[in-house]
Amino acid sequence: MVLKYLTPLFAALIVSSTSATAIPAFDLQGREAFAPVVVTPNASTFWIIGTLASVSWDASTVPSDADPLPWLALYNTSSFGSAIYITTLASDFDAHAGSVEFTVPDVDIGSYFVMMAAWGQDSPHFRIRGSNFIISPDADTVWTIGQEASVIWDPTAVASEGPEFFWVDLYNTTIYGGANDVMTLASNFDTSAGSITFIVPEVSPGSYFIMREWGQSTTHFEIVA
Ligand SMILES: *[C@@H]1O[C@H](CO)[C@@H](O)[C@H](O)[C@H]1NC(C)=O
Ligand SMILES: *[C@@H]1O[C@H](CO)[C@@H](O)[C@H](O)[C@H]1NC(C)=O
Ligand SMILES: *[C@@H]1O[C@H](CO)[C@@H](O)[C@H](O)[C@H]1NC(C)=O
Repeated sequence: MVLKYLTPLFAALIVSSTSATAIPAFDLQGREAFAPVVVTPNASTFWIIGTLASVSWDASTVPSDADPLPWLALYNTSSFGSAIYITTLASDFDAHAGSVEFTVPDVDIGSYFVMMAAWGQDSPHFRIRGSNFIISPDADTVWTIGQEASVIWDPTAVASEGPEFFWVDLYNTTIYGGANDVMTLASNFDTSAGSITFIVPEVSPGSYFIMREWGQSTTHFEIVA
């Protein structure tokens, strides 16, 4: 991953604006270009590394003759309050589409924002999360009904993401391939502890997985009698 500070090239894109409206911007050839307001991500958005995410804007604000949007880039804010360019997420995409999709890059988990097509057209800060909080169960895990078992996660990853780790549910996979929520194993627990221990419930022996909030699931593991 390349980490660069703002280059004079980007600084040259500064135009006087509020971020509330679409603003004229100038492309690198000095032509006037169109830069719409980012609608999502918003302050409650989270992206998960390695999954598809999108940035959207109101396509009805886009002039019919608008050129493709030249760039969409990811930034975070340094401890001095300046914008740090992280990476480009998309370039030369259709302004009329109203959204653009990409895979969330492998960055450090934390708080980021995006800027699209013009300096000043930035989103609120939102969070990028990792997908691998849960260390155990893994594919080699076997839980025995009626005995103690634990779910173990990386407390440093959770701590840096805030307290939003409210439940752990047990799932299995239906014959149609869907996720079947069997029961909640734990909820509203201390996320800094790094693990929770409970008695394995009376379920049918078989293959299960667990999911925590935000659709993050483990691999399948076995529950035996
Ligand atoms: C914020 O963005 C998310 C998608 O990241 C969306 O589901 C949600 O509706 C948005 N919230 C508001 C208030 O627009
Ligand atoms: C900004 O993001 C980079 C890349 O993920 C990371 O190394 C750096 O620590 C982040 N800086 C801040 C202040 O969050
Ligand atoms: C899923 O688990 C439930 C509860 O133990 C069980 O009744 C059901 O048969 C399981 N389904 C599959 C497809 O294994």
